[in-house]
Amino acid sequence: VIREPVAPAADPALRDRYVAVRAQTAALAAPLSAEDCQIQSMPDASPTKWHLAHTTWFFETFVLSPHLPGYRDFEPRFRALFNSYYNSVGEQPLRAARGLVSRPGLDVVYAYRRHVDGAMTALLEGGRLAAGVARVVELGLQHEQQHQELILTDIKHALWAQPGRPQYAAPAPPRPPRDAVPRLAWQAYEAGIVAIGHDGAGFAFDNELPHHQALVPAAALASRLVTCGEYLDFVRDGGYERPALWLAAGWEAVRAAGWHAPLYWRRQDGEWFITTLHGDRALAPAEPVCHVSFYEADAYARWAGARLPTEFEWERAARDVAGDGNFLESGALHPRPLTGRDGPAGGPAQLFGDVWEWTASPYTGYPGYRPQAGALGEYNGKFMSDQWVLRGGSCATPRAHMRATYRNFFPAATRWQFSGVRLARDAGA
Ligand SMILES: [Fe+2]
Repeated sequence: VIREPVAPAADPALRDRYVAVRAQTAALAAPLSAEDCQIQSMPDASPTKWHLAHTTWFFETFVLSPHLPGYRDFEPRFRALFNSYYNSVGEQPLRAARGLVSRPGLDVVYAYRRHVDGAMTALLEGGRLAAGVARVVELGLQHEQQHQELILTDIKHALWAQPGRPQYAAPAPPRPPRDAVPRLAWQAYEAGIVAIGHDGAGFAFDNELPHHQALVPAAALASRLVTCGEYLDFVRDGGYERPALWLAAGWEAVRAAGWHAPLYWRRQDGEWFITTLHGDRALAPAEPVCHVSFYEADAYARWAGARLPTEFEWERAARDVAGDGNFLESGALHPRPLTGRDGPAGGPAQLFGDVWEWTASPYTGYPGYRPQAGALGEYNGKFMSDQWVLRGGSCATPRAHMRATYRNFFPAATRWQFSGVRLARDAGA
């Protein structure tokens, strides 16, 4: 019997994931008006409209143009307009000027998304993709998930910065108030050679590679995140007025920016309030503290008689813990107090979700690190200076985006991300 050669099959899983991730982005923008989507409240934060367009640009530039025969650009001028930082692709507008781009309007950006989605689904349904192309599609999905988190952190800043402080979404369903959290305990780890980095199964960014071994000293990690109540003790103890607690650059930042508490905290008539994506409300002492810079996390740790964990100490603890937690999908859009049942047996709680945890590790390449070839080599590697590694994901991170080897990175003064604090200390301290 002579059998017909089997037609190469498309990857339905990849196609379905593409559709789901793109829909998730649109859902995050749905509560926002065209005017909301336009504003840029500071150079670090981009307009929602820009995120919607730039994530689309990524698929057009790196997947459709090179790999879909006959693909035509939706609008050739977008090739430069929505480039973020890829110098190999060409010129790009000033980041701080993204909020000035009133044309195209939001409706045109949505038409751009539909144009690219149509071509992408045709490509993904058309037949088996070369492995290299599928990998770039996967990278585009991971990239879009990163921008989903940025949509939330950027709009949070933009709404907070304007008079009236409108809220992003209706108030979250109330959770039972908890004034107490489980006592902070210390989880001890012995010195040892620890496998660090991604081991080859599933997606990873190039900065999680190569998988390698690291000598990690004996140390203890806090059983949970630092809470707002604990951080308030630091504030009340004059934490922001005592230079001895701060790194030199941190103290400079405190003085220059007038920091006296985390971003989005404010004091009124002696009471503390915070701004959340669900609106303003009283500070909840049991919630994990967030929107602190590396400098503040470091100063708090010094005040508390502890230090920040290295990223290797963090990964040693996280690799044996189920990667579950309060991620984007919970709808809370804010870190949650630890409850008795949240703690994983035998490991620290809240490692995943809630807040990104600042580490004491500078963001550099692992031994033998090689950026991806071509323009996409600009994705991670060129940022390996003057930034610090954060681990674990936040309440704005899509759950499927996170893993124990994931390395996020931001400059030390960054506060608008959902960034918080886990303490560590040396063995025997
Ligand atoms: Fe990007």
